[in-house]
Amino acid sequence: METPFVFGKVATEKNFTDREKETAELVQQFTSLINTIIISPRRWGKSSLVNKAAAAAMAQDDRLRICHIDLFNVRDEGGFYTLLAQKVIAATATKWEEAVGDVKKFFSRLVPKIALSAMPGNEISLDFDWEEVRHNPDEVLDLAEKIAEEKGLKIVVCIDEFQNISEFADSVGFQKRLRAHWQRHRHAAYCLYGSKRHMMMEVFTDASMPFYKFGTLIFLEKIGTPQLTAFFKSRFADTGKSIDDTAARLIAELTDNHPYYAQQLAQLSWLRTRDRCSEEIVREAHAALVEQLSLLFVTITETLTTQQLYYLKALIAGEKAIHSTAVMNRYRISSATSVARSKAALIECDVLDNKGGAVSFQDPIYAYWLKTQYFAG
Ligand SMILES: Nc1ncnc2c1ncn2[C@@H]1O[C@H](COP(=O)(O)OP(=O)(O)OP(=O)(O)O)[C@@H](O)[C@H]1O
Ligand SMILES: [Mg+2]
Repeated sequence: METPFVFGKVATEKNFTDREKETAELVQQFTSLINTIIISPRRWGKSSLVNKAAAAAMAQDDRLRICHIDLFNVRDEGGFYTLLAQKVIAATATKWEEAVGDVKKFFSRLVPKIALSAMPGNEISLDFDWEEVRHNPDEVLDLAEKIAEEKGLKIVVCIDEFQNISEFADSVGFQKRLRAHWQRHRHAAYCLYGSKRHMMMEVFTDASMPFYKFGTLIFLEKIGTPQLTAFFKSRFADTGKSIDDTAARLIAELTDNHPYYAQQLAQLSWLRTRDRCSEEIVREAHAALVEQLSLLFVTITETLTTQQLYYLKALIAGEKAIHSTAVMNRYRISSATSVARSKAALIECDVLDNKGGAVSFQDPIYAYWLKTQYFAG
């Protein structure tokens, strides 16, 4: 039998829950061609949300085309331009011949090499002479606008893991170039999202950076307990099993409403359930999940400095005034400078999330493991 929960893949249809407000807002942004920036920590559901809203927006507006670009493995401007051109052409041409025609029509200076990939769906692949593009990126950057105007379409370009551009050589220069072009577009809009909050915040909320005030900022939240519990219940029921209210709430609680882990723990609980899932089963499943991840957690912990670990220990104990001498002494933290340094480094490496000054653990299972195993020993 197919299992009723997914994690690590984009959640669609029955596997997608809640986010009604966010979906409606995004659909509105897309159909009105307003630039949008979405920020949330890893695995909270950005890709799933954008995916869902894109499909809904295109169903509403038949002139709208939305293309999806993922920068997860893109490390330089060259890779960025290729992908942008490729995806915009693929999303706006219905046939291979049309795509070839578009390449000829919309690139006057650049001559891309074009090929039909052997992949299913026959995605178009483009390649450029990099030296040419470096001197002349304008055509690629304005491609969506030009095509949209010419074909009477509206285009939204969605770019995932956008923070990667801050690792490109001369990133600020590159960002300036993007912004200078994109802010003039009237028939194309951009939805930029990513999971490294501190890097995304730098790119979009620092007044000295080119992308400052580029579009509407959306901070995605986790999924609420009532929505999660209703979701667990219905997915259990779909497969002829059931789950107690308290057990369903416990899954949300133990995973701190983290969407990915909520689905994973629900899955592990479901697998252990014959007919009816109880709190006891959820606790067993949770213990198994922690056990399964513990090796990874050991590896992460080994990369941390002693002072960082002391700081985490104080955080986990719920200490509020970590800067006070008493607390610093108790946890052997050497100074207030050390607190600041540890905090910054732990945010940088994604162990902690900093949301408007409030720090929290990105990974609720890691926090649990530190508390109950690592620091308890
Ligand atoms: N709306 C949702 N309903 C139910 N589960 C969800 C939802 N959104 C996300 N999830 C769960 O979280 C997982 C991660 O979702 P998704 O890949 O969309 O997140 P992301 O923020 O794009 O992650 P990443 O930072 O890795 O790119 C999904 O596989 C699914 O288990
Ligand atoms: Mg994603």
